Amino acid sequence: MPALVLLGAQWGDEGKGKATDLLGGSVDYVVRYQGGNNAGHTVVVGDQKYALHLLPSGILSPGCTPVIGNGVVVDPSVLLSELSGLNERGVDTSKLLISGNAHIITPYNVTVDKVTERFLGKRKIGTTGRGIGPTYADKINRVGIRVQDLYDESILTQKVEAALDAKNQILTKLYNRRAIAADQVVEELLGYAEQLRPYVADTVLILNQALEQDKVVLFEGGQGTLLDIDHGTYPFVTSSNPTAGGACTGAGVGPTKIGRVIGILKAYTTRVGSGPFPTELLDEDGEALRRIGGERGVTTGRDRRCGWFDAVIARYATRVNGLTDFFLTKLDVLTGWEQIPVCVAYEIDGKRVEELPYSQTDFHHAKPVYEYLPGWQEDITKAKTFADLPKNAQGYVKALEEMSGAPISAIGVGPGRDETIEINSFL
Ligand code: GDP
Ligand code: IMO
Ligand code: MG
Repeated sequence: MPALVLLGAQWGDEGKGKATDLLGGSVDYVVRYQGGNNAGHTVVVGDQKYALHLLPSGILSPGCTPVIGNGVVVDPSVLLSELSGLNERGVDTSKLLISGNAHIITPYNVTVDKVTERFLGKRKIGTTGRGIGPTYADKINRVGIRVQDLYDESILTQKVEAALDAKNQILTKLYNRRAIAADQVVEELLGYAEQLRPYVADTVLILNQALEQDKVVLFEGGQGTLLDIDHGTYPFVTSSNPTAGGACTGAGVGPTKIGRVIGILKAYTTRVGSGPFPTELLDEDGEALRRIGGERGVTTGRDRRCGWFDAVIARYATRVNGLTDFFLTKLDVLTGWEQIPVCVAYEIDGKRVEELPYSQTDFHHAKPVYEYLPGWQEDITKAKTFADLPKNAQGYVKALEEMSGAPISAIGVGPGRDETIEINSFL
């Protein structure tokens, strides 16, 4: 069976963790292909709630092998504490595989992330402060440290020294900070080596062999389409490719192996950090979405910015990812509004624009053009089929589907695994 990709269609936090977990019981491998512990994926199983950052959400399904691909950036201390936290709760994590080519988030990458954000002042990106950008920068600059380097002390030392040479100049001379000692970093990193060793593997080979044997492989994106370094709202983005192509480079699997690309789409919009957001609400409706939707960051605890659904963004996500399906989440949060505005186009300098403008300046000036759809008052959290939904909720879903350019194959009506309406099977 060809592989599936599951990714965020907006600015992250669409409910990817729940959707992945839902499929986890029926797939053989769940693979993270980019990002790191900037992600925060909440999974609710029965009365248990799990917050995952680096581990693929498939870790909660016993039959599934979770994989951290080569495109991910790994903070070893975060990984080990996430693993021990799950072990304490009785979750078996022994099947985990980590690519030896994945890059390591070192303590100095975290320092550089925090210091540069502070230095940017009010122009800051609003990063999660987890060292993501600086680690990917080191990767591209060819001074990164990879997981496999933990197993050759001499190479590790040379690489850490090379990476720190320039950084210490910048830290001390530009940012007025103390230099970071290479030997201390090496010692810390070596301290993780043996604990990680059982998991380190040639994940590219394993995943391609699995696909040849007709195993089911699911790629789980972190972040979302509009946070993509190439296709997102640059510079207010993350430093990796959450879009579908990222699954190929970030896991070493060719595009011919991917059959289905599922976009996780929230029934309204949220964003964390800085950057343009045309449908953002700064009024009591925004406050209500935040309260009812529990829109607070899993990683940083920051309040999420909230706004109405934006169909221009959804259409864009369909295009740049080649989406075959949507999984619409959090429809239940919209219960209770008399009518629900949906952004169908933008007005930019007096002109109606139907597609996402490629120019940052234009996007900053984009004003939402709303259509108003009738709301519903009935509780929908117990709905099991599309027919169980009130007429107006059905109408809302159908309208979104038409505007967004791909079929909605599942609908989330609550955070739990079973609070989902399946329309077309994903497998
Ligand atoms: P992710 O980063 O895409 O995995 O999403 P987050 O976990 O950061 O945020 C999504 C939040 O919405 C989590 O608290 C989920 O438990 C919750 N959630 C997911 N799907 C639904 C849904 O259909 N309805 C409701 N009410 N909550 C949901
Ligand atoms: P999940 O996987 C929402 C945002 C940050 C910031 C920008 C850059 O839970 O959907 P970074 O630390 O990545 O350099 O920060 O990206 N961001 C997210 N926003 N959900 C996420 O992950 C995010 N990961 C990063 O808030 O604006
Ligand atoms: Mg999240």
